Amino acid sequence: MSGTIHQFDAIVVGGGGAGLYAALALSQNKVPTAVLSKLYPTRSHTGAAQGGIGAALGNKEEDHAEWHMFDTVKGSDYLADQDAVEIMCQEAVETVYELEHLGLPFNRTPEGKIDQRRFGGHTKEHGKAPVQRACFAADRTGHMILQTLYQQCIKNEVKFFDEFHVIDLIVQDKVCRGVVAYAVQTGELHLFHAKSVLFATGGSGRMFKITSNAHALTGDGMAIALRNGIPLEDMEFFQFHPTGIYKMGILLSEACRGEGGIIRNNNGERFMERYAPTIKDLAPRDIVSRCIYLEVRDGRGIGGKDYVHLDLTHLGKEVIEKKLPDISDFVRTYMGIDPVKDLIPIQPTAHYAMGGIPTNFNSEVVVDENGTALKGFYAAGECACVSVHGANRLGTNSLVDILVFGRRAGLSMANYCKETEFSPLPSNSEEPSRALLNQFKSGSERIAPLRSDLQSFMMDLCGVFRTEKLLKEALTKVKTLKERSTNLTISDKSQVFNSELLDAVELLNLIDLAWVTVESALARTESRGAHYREDYPKRNDAQWLKHTLASLSNDSVKLSYKPVKITKFQPQERKY
Ligand code: FUM
Repeated sequence: MSGTIHQFDAIVVGGGGAGLYAALALSQNKVPTAVLSKLYPTRSHTGAAQGGIGAALGNKEEDHAEWHMFDTVKGSDYLADQDAVEIMCQEAVETVYELEHLGLPFNRTPEGKIDQRRFGGHTKEHGKAPVQRACFAADRTGHMILQTLYQQCIKNEVKFFDEFHVIDLIVQDKVCRGVVAYAVQTGELHLFHAKSVLFATGGSGRMFKITSNAHALTGDGMAIALRNGIPLEDMEFFQFHPTGIYKMGILLSEACRGEGGIIRNNNGERFMERYAPTIKDLAPRDIVSRCIYLEVRDGRGIGGKDYVHLDLTHLGKEVIEKKLPDISDFVRTYMGIDPVKDLIPIQPTAHYAMGGIPTNFNSEVVVDENGTALKGFYAAGECACVSVHGANRLGTNSLVDILVFGRRAGLSMANYCKETEFSPLPSNSEEPSRALLNQFKSGSERIAPLRSDLQSFMMDLCGVFRTEKLLKEALTKVKTLKERSTNLTISDKSQVFNSELLDAVELLNLIDLAWVTVESALARTESRGAHYREDYPKRNDAQWLKHTLASLSNDSVKLSYKPVKITKFQPQERKY
């Protein structure tokens, strides 16, 4: 491994929607920019956001950015920072039109406007009834965003380093100076010297056994930030999407329910009518996921088992095949059944990290309770926490978040690069990465059993329902795994396409993230959004209306807190 050095004003790590939009904004401002991705960019996980991007265009019925803001804040169980939510909901509208002008093939209404459909938690007039707010390209909205932005970046001559796996951040004297990356094709370390670095590295759903997340979603950016002394915000809030394919977790878009799909228990009952009488199956994801588990616990899972049914049969072949083609394909391919005629077995699937690297609304990474920015370091998308999702994200808001704050990151970086000189690279910047990669040469622990142990206990002990007893058990287990992972070994010693080596690095990342997740969840003795404590079933604003910051220091987790920004909407009881 030798250290080839590259120099760009801006380095974007991650080739999903946030990274690509940032790179596009940088290139439009003539900033020399490189995107590093451990994948081929259009294979990024943005593609899994199937059903739509929320924006109050009002193309199908009256809608307003302010209603979108209200729904997002209420959906977040009042933990979202309302100044950031307001920016997101307002800029969502211009962002969707910009994507349209860049060539994104949205579905159309008969009069040729961008079509819109319902999604969970999106309402009119502050909760009175569901509203059609999700702009969509069939059930491939995320994929279309990736293709659109990637081709624009290529047109603008953004430099792509595909299959470059970032291992470390280079920071000295409180200034970020670049990253260290491992070239998968050659096994060499490369140093990327930069004035500014954006992490747009996505989520960490692979810490759970049943997940909608692709294998690449191992929280690399978050874990690197954590190891560099940056606290992670609100890691206890992890969203379970209600409709994952049973046992596999593969996502069946919320658009299925947006188009009229219904969830039924063993009695064929549309049970969400009992729990959320106003918006029923389109209640936010935290609520629907919990209700599915409650039905299962009460013996109303299908055949007494741990799943329920998604029923699309009344939608008809044309709607299913035209508006939900990909999910129809998944159901046929993975389950061998036909969504036009058959009920689909589903269970909640770990889907989205609401927490992440703390940022302000210019996507600058902030490192403490006072909002102090780390110069030159930015984060956007799922790896970041701005925080627009609070304790629970509404469907379609991930795409809004990645695009609005990805573009803001690009614009902030462009300004910063114009007024900043390169700070020198510290000597031996690659040494910590080299040590990390070399540590697997001896040892006796194998990757697969440790990873499957992690995924099983995180699912069982730190999933949809939590208690002190379960979380303490999870903490013991994660600490044991952390200890065992110091003795990890790999059998592939080659330099070229050594995916086993990267699996080991990814496992270490997941273990650190699981650790801060469990500690943050154990400390929060209330229930809010996706964090449901059976031993503390009520939300407790007096004590817990605050964001968690979790840092890893000297092999222990330290927690601190910062206030939530409340502007327009005072916390209320969340009823749907
Ligand atoms: O259900 C979905 O289509 C996923 C969208 C999202 O997570 O926002």
